[in-house]
Amino acid sequence: MPSLDDTTRGRVLFGGDYNPEQWPEETWREDVRLMRDARVNSVTVGVFSWARLEPRPGVRDFGWLDRLMDLLHEHGIGVVLATPTSAPPPWLGRLHPETLPRDADGRVEWWGGRQHFSHSSAVYRRYAAAITEDLAARYAAHPALTMWHINNEYCTADHGDEAAARFRGWLRAKYGTTDALNTAWGTAFWSQRYDDWGEILPARHTHYLKNPAQVLDFRRFTSDMLLECFTAERDIVRRHTPHLPVTTNFMPLFFGQDAWRWAEEEDVVSVDLYPDPRDPVGGARDGALVQDLTRSQARGPWMLMEQAAGAVNWRGVNHPRPRGLNRLWSWQAVARGADAVCYFQWRQSRQGAEKFHSGMVGHAGERGRTFQEVRRLGAELERIGGEVAGRQVTADVTVLHDWHAWWAAEQDGRLSSRAGHPNLLAAWHRALWEAHLTADFAHPEHDLTGRRLVVVPQLYLLTDAAIDNLRAYVEGGGTLVCGFLTGVADEDDRVRPGGVDPRLRELFGIRVLHEWWPLGEGETVGCDGFRGTLWSEEIEAADDLDERIDYRGGELDGLPAVLRRGRAWYVSTLPEPDALRALLARIAAGAGVRPVLDGLPQGVEAVRRGELLFVLNHGREPVTVAVPGPHRELLTGVAVRDEVRLERFGVAVLRP
Ligand code: GAL
Repeated sequence: MPSLDDTTRGRVLFGGDYNPEQWPEETWREDVRLMRDARVNSVTVGVFSWARLEPRPGVRDFGWLDRLMDLLHEHGIGVVLATPTSAPPPWLGRLHPETLPRDADGRVEWWGGRQHFSHSSAVYRRYAAAITEDLAARYAAHPALTMWHINNEYCTADHGDEAAARFRGWLRAKYGTTDALNTAWGTAFWSQRYDDWGEILPARHTHYLKNPAQVLDFRRFTSDMLLECFTAERDIVRRHTPHLPVTTNFMPLFFGQDAWRWAEEEDVVSVDLYPDPRDPVGGARDGALVQDLTRSQARGPWMLMEQAAGAVNWRGVNHPRPRGLNRLWSWQAVARGADAVCYFQWRQSRQGAEKFHSGMVGHAGERGRTFQEVRRLGAELERIGGEVAGRQVTADVTVLHDWHAWWAAEQDGRLSSRAGHPNLLAAWHRALWEAHLTADFAHPEHDLTGRRLVVVPQLYLLTDAAIDNLRAYVEGGGTLVCGFLTGVADEDDRVRPGGVDPRLRELFGIRVLHEWWPLGEGETVGCDGFRGTLWSEEIEAADDLDERIDYRGGELDGLPAVLRRGRAWYVSTLPEPDALRALLARIAAGAGVRPVLDGLPQGVEAVRRGELLFVLNHGREPVTVAVPGPHRELLTGVAVRDEVRLERFGVAVLRP
């Protein structure tokens, strides 16, 4: 199978989405001049070009794209060619209204924006396949083509009639009989028993709470339907260019796709990442989580498909990236395994919904600070990218994450809406990041053999196979730390006996889990040495715990907040950030896992990739960092011994 290496060929890719259909052809020549100046070696073309390529049903206009591909090739710029299927032309919706998706309230999502396609529509799929086929046939042999980019940020759900029919087919394939479905969905509750497949609906608007098992299956179905759209187009382009890799860009930690499943179907895993530049340290932390997850999905180097060189336009208040931050965050992605640093988009649009979203070339043009910083970064990546590309990141901690657990947990009718899966993932990953412990992610059924420390912030739903996997991991000598509300439900979202699966209770030394005690806004709970937030639990522990930290004060006074039996830890609250960091650092040390560097100040990040050591200063004040031994700093070429100084938002890439 082709991989990212087939496109990077030993370099780090640098470039972005390029939407030349928004500009006259004179501007294209100016674009390639500036691209060369900025050392851009790859652009993603055609993401939203469907109406331009197919102005009327079945008509093709490839002339402009031929000229553009030739121009880019003449200037040595590779093309990641996108199928344009995320934004169908207006004629498709007008001719075939059934191609438009409906939300849970039955409202149509009309053209005039983007992503207005129903994943279930046979007509949409047919037109998407046809344009993909012709695009692939036309450019298969073009020398500029280096990779395929299918659609863009697959994300739309559909609750319409065609989706309902496909949902029934999907359920039939899964359950076989309505009896099996009734059992799995618990339809004895509220008179929901189904006698005929035709009675079953997508998770549409209801008067009061929906059946959670139905919602869970509808989320699974939606991810699967979008994946079918992806694989259909992927298979078409693969037929024409079996030697070229195929990707589709994920949104960061996006709810709607089971990205573990999806990643298995891609040659290259790519992601779009837009941390908030108003908070450089918080943004770096958020970025690190997504980068670690994406690298783990890719099982190696991955592609930063989109980031913003300056402001985005979809937060309440949108700041530019302050001086130096674009460079720092780009190097952070490379440190954490990216072999491609790309942006949305090359040239800032003058019209349309994103005219205030930054580009690599902003409204200020060539002389603008944003472009000048892009230019500097491009030169650096070109200079030392070859030393970095293809290398593996060293990570000694593994965090478990699963979309099905998230989908099951994120529903109405739960005990607290404050303890959401992404918040917990962020809190635990932050603790690791601040302790300078690099983390990979894994699925709870992945082979965990040889991993030294496995951390489960929360997995509300765990399959039997996953539970057995965790137990086998601990029995095999691994250290496991689990947060609260883990192992509560089985794969049908049925509460396990005793509230937490008996095998897990046994593992952690929980004799009885009497009650869950979620905490309200501003409420905390005392524990020996720290305060817990969000959640607490009334636990009766087994007599043979090896260690416990107790609740202090309040209803739970004297009951265990943290339990350890052997190498298995259970944490029944969310310790405040410093306490969680200290706890995880202690557990890691016990498991033989050391921080990347000792004595690093807060706000400084260190990551090892191959033999290289990246040190990143996320603060605005210069810092001096101890790095034992002699190194060469590759960006400056200077030899350093035992310490390195980093300016505001500074980066050092050290080779022993
Ligand atoms: C991404 C999308 C791009 C652009 C960008 C703006 O989600 O793929 O097309 O809209 O956001 O931040």
